[in-house]
Amino acid sequence: MNLENKVAYITGGTKGIGLGIAKSLINADLKVAISGRKALDTEKLKAELGSDVLIIASDVRNFEDEQKAVEQIVSKFGKLDVVIANAGLGKFAPIDELSLEDWNAMIDTNLTGVFHTLKASVAQLKANKGHYISIASLAGTNFFAGGAAYNASKFGVVGFTQAAMLDLRDYDVKTTTIMPGSVTSHFNEHVPNDADGWKIQPEDIGQIVVDLLKLNPNVLPSKIEVRPTKTK
Ligand SMILES: NC(=O)c1ccc[n+]([C@@H]2O[C@H](COP(=O)([O-])OP(=O)(O)OC[C@H]3O[C@@H](n4cnc5c(N)ncnc54)[C@H](OP(=O)(O)O)[C@@H]3O)[C@@H](O)[C@H]2O)c1
Repeated sequence: MNLENKVAYITGGTKGIGLGIAKSLINADLKVAISGRKALDTEKLKAELGSDVLIIASDVRNFEDEQKAVEQIVSKFGKLDVVIANAGLGKFAPIDELSLEDWNAMIDTNLTGVFHTLKASVAQLKANKGHYISIASLAGTNFFAGGAAYNASKFGVVGFTQAAMLDLRDYDVKTTTIMPGSVTSHFNEHVPNDADGWKIQPEDIGQIVVDLLKLNPNVLPSKIEVRPTKTK
């Protein structure tokens, strides 16, 4: 894909991994739209990403929000070529302590939200022979105590994205599942700090996305596991 003048949408691009991907794509000359839930600090994000970035308030749990987000992108940039379903959250508790609220928040955001994003954008992806990417997790293949809801959402999104890849490949739409291990971000109320140096950095995931987009049209890395080189 020639990246100049391609248009990308990153859900959950206001911080963490999504923001890192946005920076990498802007550096690679793409037009970029990002989203987050309400009350976005537009001024701060434009100062970081440049004034051409489109900042959209859209809750991925709401399909209509995602439809309107795609409409806004096409209205501003004329099309949509690259979609990265990244918005997500994690709350961890043993099953007897796991609240219904946290279960619903993770399934609705990390799994149903990803379906909403792809469903709302698939016509654009087909029209432009685009690339769709889910930011899943290694928790989509490795289960752990306290992770029942997060594991369920991420195992689900890995299955969803792999099946979608089979639906879309013959339309020349590439579909990739990226499964990161520990990345420096605000995930689970974490505050990034100096002790995070051993982790993957958000722009490292951004670099992987840029490299994926530059590959020969005949080549599709459909599922990628990414881990920090060392454990600490
Ligand atoms: N950090 C890690 O170690 C790690 C590892 C593997 C996978 N992941 C995955 O990476 C993705 C990004 O997480 P992160 O680590 O970058 O966390 P983060 O720093 O907390 O960022 C999460 C992003 O998602 C947005 N968001 C949350 N709920 C949303 C919703 N309902 N609708 C729209 N946007 C929503 C947030 O924006 P607002 O708060 O403005 O809504 C924010 O931009 C998640 O899917 C996570 O599961 C993270």
